[in-house]
Amino acid sequence: MNATTMTGSPPGSPRPATAPNRYGHFSEDGSEYVVTDPRTPRPWVNVIATPRLGLVVSQTGSGFTWIDNSQLGVITRWQQDLAHDSSGKFLYVRDAETGAVWSLSPAPVWPRYDRFECRHGLGATSFETELGGIAARWSLFCHADETVELWHVELANLGDRPRRLQLVAYLEWNCGVAPSPRREFTRLFLETGFDPARRAVFATSHMWEVPSKRFGHWNAEFPYVSALACSEPVAAAQGDKLGFTGRYRDLRDPAALTGASWTPEFGRHGDAVAALCSHLTLAPHGRRAVGYALAVAASRAEVEALVERTTDPGAIERALAEVRAGWRARLAEHRVRTPDPTLDLLANDWLRYQAISSRLWGRCGYYQQSGAYGFRDQLQDSQVWLTIEPERCRAQIGLHAAHQFADGSVYHWWHPLSEQGHVTRMTDDLLWLAFVTASYLRETGRFEILDDPAPFLDDPHTKPLFDHVVRAFQRTFSRTSPRGLPYIGAGDWNDGLSAVGLEERGESVWLGHFLAGLLAEWTVICERAGRDGVAGTFAERRRRLVAAINEHGWDGEWYLRGTLDDGTPLGSASNARGKIFLNAQTWAILADVASPERAARCMAAVKEHLVTDAGSLLLAPAFDEPIPEIGYITRYAPGLRENGGVYTHAATWAIAAACKVRDHELVGRLLAAINPSLKDPERYWAEPYVLPGNVDGPASPHHGRAGWTWYTGSAAWLHRVVCEWVLGVRPEWGGLRLDPCLPPGWTSAEMTRPYRGATYHIAIERDASIPEGAPARVWLDCVAQPGNVVAAPAAPGERHEVRVRCR
Ligand code: GLC
Repeated sequence: MNATTMTGSPPGSPRPATAPNRYGHFSEDGSEYVVTDPRTPRPWVNVIATPRLGLVVSQTGSGFTWIDNSQLGVITRWQQDLAHDSSGKFLYVRDAETGAVWSLSPAPVWPRYDRFECRHGLGATSFETELGGIAARWSLFCHADETVELWHVELANLGDRPRRLQLVAYLEWNCGVAPSPRREFTRLFLETGFDPARRAVFATSHMWEVPSKRFGHWNAEFPYVSALACSEPVAAAQGDKLGFTGRYRDLRDPAALTGASWTPEFGRHGDAVAALCSHLTLAPHGRRAVGYALAVAASRAEVEALVERTTDPGAIERALAEVRAGWRARLAEHRVRTPDPTLDLLANDWLRYQAISSRLWGRCGYYQQSGAYGFRDQLQDSQVWLTIEPERCRAQIGLHAAHQFADGSVYHWWHPLSEQGHVTRMTDDLLWLAFVTASYLRETGRFEILDDPAPFLDDPHTKPLFDHVVRAFQRTFSRTSPRGLPYIGAGDWNDGLSAVGLEERGESVWLGHFLAGLLAEWTVICERAGRDGVAGTFAERRRRLVAAINEHGWDGEWYLRGTLDDGTPLGSASNARGKIFLNAQTWAILADVASPERAARCMAAVKEHLVTDAGSLLLAPAFDEPIPEIGYITRYAPGLRENGGVYTHAATWAIAAACKVRDHELVGRLLAAINPSLKDPERYWAEPYVLPGNVDGPASPHHGRAGWTWYTGSAAWLHRVVCEWVLGVRPEWGGLRLDPCLPPGWTSAEMTRPYRGATYHIAIERDASIPEGAPARVWLDCVAQPGNVVAAPAAPGERHEVRVRCR
């Protein structure tokens, strides 16, 4: 790709499709992934969520639905089985003449389709199938504003004779916490009912396994009523699982699909499911659209009203168009165009969709159904809103500030709905409040946020956000070792380092870097907010901290990760395992703790010990036996997750650090290494369109195999690193810095982004005559600028053209 092929088309406009693999390909514009062979190595799923309702659906059709909390408010039942993946909500078709039965997704019948496509897109998934002369399209999504999951089903008779069909929808009710270790117990509280006039099965549960505020343990009502409704008349309905499958049969071949009549059972004494059977006749070459609504509301009356206004197939089609348009609009203002179309489709659509749908709204994936807010996790994720809807990031900051105790400490995570929270001795959680607030301020310049009031968990009196942040700093300062390094406690960013500093003697070098970076940021913030006294203290603390890290935290060739309670170094050449940790090097560079000489040395060590073709390892060599004094990280199999795998979240920071030391070759290598769409699925296994939490490292026999997709903080971070470091468009205190570090071979790139109410179109070109390390040359609206920062716009609504020439 060269500069000329780019001119004329705006960033993000359609590009040639990327190469297909054995199982599927991206759609022309990259916004859908089309699975053509459903026997993918692992489930390839879509996490479709709105701020309240969500569903996960895999390419087999398996999955489940929740409301408000993907662990405590699970509406339909699902069993995690990544090998079989045939559990969920399904649609069957039965040919009334021949008795042939198939499903409109591969599971549960696994028919041999004449044609099959599962299209995962932003906000919706569709199964397009053809079998025995019947074409079908089944689309699933959540209504943009209402708590209802909608199915649009289109059936077409491709032949010359009329066809009589039975269409059967099936799901199992959960209505509570999932997974339930006591299903035989929890099912005793479910109640179902059938309303023929409304063509709907209703369900709720009289017990919810969260503490009742008034009546003690296991003594609360599930606060929602659910319904599955159909737009067609219902000829038969079933509320009991055994009544549907028959004895010793399963969902692949249920008795209800044999043509035998149904003996319905509803009420409180069955095994709660919903099955609805409708009879359809399709004329030769005739078509028919059918709608289904899976609605959830606070009462029976509300859910009745909800299905009445949403089940019509025409209304469902309009709602689907609205959802798709909503995603397009949400992501439209910030787009990139690089010479790598696979990176573009990640940066323009999939990474932000992953961060918003799965991490922020759904808080759910196929490998983890969390429902909780991680204090550090969703705060980091919320940075994905900064360029497009920054006030949503501000709201997230406010929510987390209200989950802080008056002493500055915070919940490690908490559950919305039940407000149960986890108190730990993790030492970094609280500081992410300062980090994300600083990011918000750099992007927006809206210092009013510092006055946003929020209560504490143990004190209902509100205090301004500034006080919350200062309390977080003060608590961290109060936990400083005699050598001037912060204690690591029960882990910092790395949850698995859970025992390193339980006695509050073990130190963290990474937390030192993190804190040093924050102190620099907050020195500026305090100065700008007229808090010069605090600014002075922070500046002085940073100076002492950087000196302490460089005195005690340098191992010789790289930075230590920390020390154990007994003083043993961690992440040192003297350790047999865990000799070098990635974050302790990358953040030394990102937080300007390392001198240029040390930065070069520790990055050289990263390249030597941690960089693989699957990304940068979190540490090496992997631990191969449990070390209780370090923590559960050592208990993972070698090479898995934090124990010497590629932990994608941290691997994105390695790309930023490589940009900062201007190692173009490494930037290109690391970007390609973690790009899921470039992988061989037989080795990689996971979805090509979203990031995984981890990829096995070389200590695993499956080096390069990805897992824990969707539910990872790496999605928002990779987007940010590509925009702010690789393309180098970074909001700073003085304005927007233009500081690209392009991979070798890239001659140009473009970005369109909002900035403080204005729109900037930025065209980057490589210029070999610019010396390495020299700042980029910048023109703002054709006027050469004295440096590589353009000042914030004078007024919202302005449009600016920025030209950047860089090395
Ligand atoms: C998990 C946690 C996250 C943590 C990471 C590394 O992803 O949710 O908070 O930083 O693991 O241990």
